[in-house]
Amino acid sequence: MKVNGTHYRSLWWDADKNALQIIDQRWLPHDFRVQQIDTLTEFADAIVEMRVRGAPLIGATAAYAMALAMRLDPSDSAMNKAWEFFNATRPTAINLRWALNRCRDLLRPLPTEMRASAALTLAHEMADEDVEVNRMIGVHGLEIIREIASKKPAGEPVRLLTHCNAGWLATVDWGTATSPMYHAHDADIPIHVWVDETRPRNQGALTSWELGCHGIDHQYITDNAGGHLMQHGQVDMVITGTDRTTRRGDVCNKIGTYLKALAARDNNVPFYVALPSSTIDWTVDDGVAEIPIEERGQEEITHVQGRLADGSIGTVQVTPDGTAGGNPAFDVTPNRLVTGLITERGVCEASPKGLAAMFPDRAEAD
Ligand code: MRU
Repeated sequence: MKVNGTHYRSLWWDADKNALQIIDQRWLPHDFRVQQIDTLTEFADAIVEMRVRGAPLIGATAAYAMALAMRLDPSDSAMNKAWEFFNATRPTAINLRWALNRCRDLLRPLPTEMRASAALTLAHEMADEDVEVNRMIGVHGLEIIREIASKKPAGEPVRLLTHCNAGWLATVDWGTATSPMYHAHDADIPIHVWVDETRPRNQGALTSWELGCHGIDHQYITDNAGGHLMQHGQVDMVITGTDRTTRRGDVCNKIGTYLKALAARDNNVPFYVALPSSTIDWTVDDGVAEIPIEERGQEEITHVQGRLADGSIGTVQVTPDGTAGGNPAFDVTPNRLVTGLITERGVCEASPKGLAAMFPDRAEAD
């Protein structure tokens, strides 16, 4: 998507430098910094420290990480070591394992001298695929927004609420939850987006930045405001992303998503989840019991990062000295609270039947 008139993806390959470039998201929305990734450690750090973040983007980054690993040493043992190393960077988003498996499956049967170029070609393909998949999510999600808009007085905006950043920054381009928003805006359907701040990392600020760059009307709200807005008829639809979707349609997403789904159900607000099929973990049924939830550092809770009065970017402590913080980064929304799943193939029910009918090839294969 565009930033100040220039089109960016969240990562891209610089052929002259023979290296991956990323947007270091830790500094957004205050500062747009591009970083070149040259070593395996830098790749791992970029994922762990959330310079790159969001399930699909983590997957795409991992594919480029495997390409670098193969350039350095294309042996079987190096490949397996790289798989283990990168798979351990973040535990919840399944796109990481999906991407690493896809690389390993392609590379394993190849002679070692072919692996480096094959891995890089695959990484490019996976990045391009991600863009197209997210574009299609937008095409399908647009129809839901159009339907809601058709029932409103002309010119009245469809009011959407989203949690976290499931935007183009979290994918290679378009985003998942934001793709229908971008498509609706571009189709001249008026929308207004309530953006949850998403403590502690405030991914909502990234969403606000994205929407602002695209000229989409939005308001940044506290994580606790959504229920109140829904009770007062100010939300027409909730749409979020997901880091892992189980075969029965439970969705694991940024902490706080579950509470939005509960409030949506209590207020008859449709709750949709947008996802590429790479986010489906066909090996898991019960998301609450089976999905590992990342526990992040306490300082993300006890401190807040932002632009300081002198213009620099820094953190301030918000708790008394010595206060312990608890920081589960994701939660699971059971399928019964999900109105529908918006995928690249269309919209389906969040159920074993719904997902299997939409992806019969994948459901059987895994
Ligand atoms: O911890 P993050 O910022 O990587 O979490 C991101 C999310 O929870 C997104 O909603 C999810 O990855 C879907 S992104 C298209």
